[in-house]
Amino acid sequence: MTDLIDRLKDKSLLRTDSYVNAAWIAGEDRFAVTNPADRSVLAEVADVGEAGARKAVDAADQAFQSWKKTSVYERARLIQKWNDLILEHADDLGTLITAEMGKPFGEAKGEVIYGAGFVAWSAEEAKRLHGETLQTPFPGSRGWTLRQPVGVVGCITPWNFPAAMITRKCAPALAAGCTMVVKPAPETPLTALALAELADRAGIPKGVFNVICGDAQKIGPVLTGSDVVRMIGFTGSTQVGKLLMKQAADTVKRVSLELGGNAPFIVMDDADIEKAAEGVIASKFRAAGQTCVSANRIIAQGAIADQLVEAIASRMGKLKVGSGFDKGVQIGPLIHEEAVARVDKLVQDAKKRGAKILTGGSPLVDELGGAFYAPTLIDGGNDYALELACFEIFGPVASVYRADDEAEILRLANDTPYGLAAYLYTSDVNRVHRMSEGLDFGMIGVNAPMVGSPATPFGGVKESGIGREGGKWGVEEFTEMKFVLLGGVD
Ligand code: SIN
Repeated sequence: MTDLIDRLKDKSLLRTDSYVNAAWIAGEDRFAVTNPADRSVLAEVADVGEAGARKAVDAADQAFQSWKKTSVYERARLIQKWNDLILEHADDLGTLITAEMGKPFGEAKGEVIYGAGFVAWSAEEAKRLHGETLQTPFPGSRGWTLRQPVGVVGCITPWNFPAAMITRKCAPALAAGCTMVVKPAPETPLTALALAELADRAGIPKGVFNVICGDAQKIGPVLTGSDVVRMIGFTGSTQVGKLLMKQAADTVKRVSLELGGNAPFIVMDDADIEKAAEGVIASKFRAAGQTCVSANRIIAQGAIADQLVEAIASRMGKLKVGSGFDKGVQIGPLIHEEAVARVDKLVQDAKKRGAKILTGGSPLVDELGGAFYAPTLIDGGNDYALELACFEIFGPVASVYRADDEAEILRLANDTPYGLAAYLYTSDVNRVHRMSEGLDFGMIGVNAPMVGSPATPFGGVKESGIGREGGKWGVEEFTEMKFVLLGGVD
């Protein structure tokens, strides 16, 4: 805790109570937030439980009555101010992310800037929300649509992007005129609470943006069960997404779900192999592989497979693992030791089935004293039944598979219940069209290892989710379209 305070320039960003109706509230319990790099306790954060959740929902409901009527220019001004404060405090927010989540400080600060991009975009987009005038079948009548805010939104966010997954949901919702109750992951509440502190300083009115921490089993049902909460936004596992969807069904809430992935990273025989290998490193090892869009199955076409494996291996040899605060580190710890055990189980399955472990292949918990796993490269040959190929790895393990023709590659890539991101490396423009249209995924990176940006739609198909974040779609997601028919105008 002292160490973390020492690192912060603005020490008052370290908040440990929940933010409800512009006040900091504590609950009956507190829970420990730990640094995954060394198991040290960073803070004891208040668990506000059911009572705190109800308070937040009431506050958001009350605030909605005036926020929805606040001019979009005023909403945009306040959201922009929040953006400015986030950027001003990018170092401190990055420090909090590295401390509680583990990703290297440079990457953490990059996440803050990435996340702020959604805030700035939403402030602008608030002014561009509009309806349309429509033809009607009735002589003399007029018809038009209105875009109005959905209402109070419950937002449940993950630990892998403690800042960006909050800003990507909340800024567009606020821009649309919704009010929010945010429940961050228990592993990373400190970044969320710091964002609340900055929203407060930006002058976002009381009750509009609330952040509550605590036990998901108690808080989740309050959000999904309330008839005041009209929408649930969630990023996390498909398993929890399905549960939230079921819970939200009773009050027919809208859901926006960004769930798990199993991204194929396809390298065709006409691709630039060095660029593809660089892409694998960027996609696979961002956040130590703990992203939903991380390359999960690297599928190489025919003869280039060995060359690709070699190019990936030579880059992986240079990756430095350690605390995200140490200079030159590119791979931090996993979120906790259960995550290490889960990743290792997938690797052990591959070993048992005869896959070749080319580098790594084991935890570094004892060596480095935290939740570390060695960057691992596995040649899976043609065995697409490896657990590594079937499940989301969420760790620094790259596994390469082989296939021959384009149709077979498409079939293998689509052979998963997931459909979030896919990557395709090729220099043939006809292939770009054929394959990007044939891949059953919400986002395709062609010769590009990253697909998210403030202006573009982020989201999946199949069991990877519903709805889109980012761009104009990300703001529209938080609106209802209303139709008005005016009869009898002469
Ligand atoms: C995610 O993995 O959930 C988000 C990744 C991104 O925004 O690029």
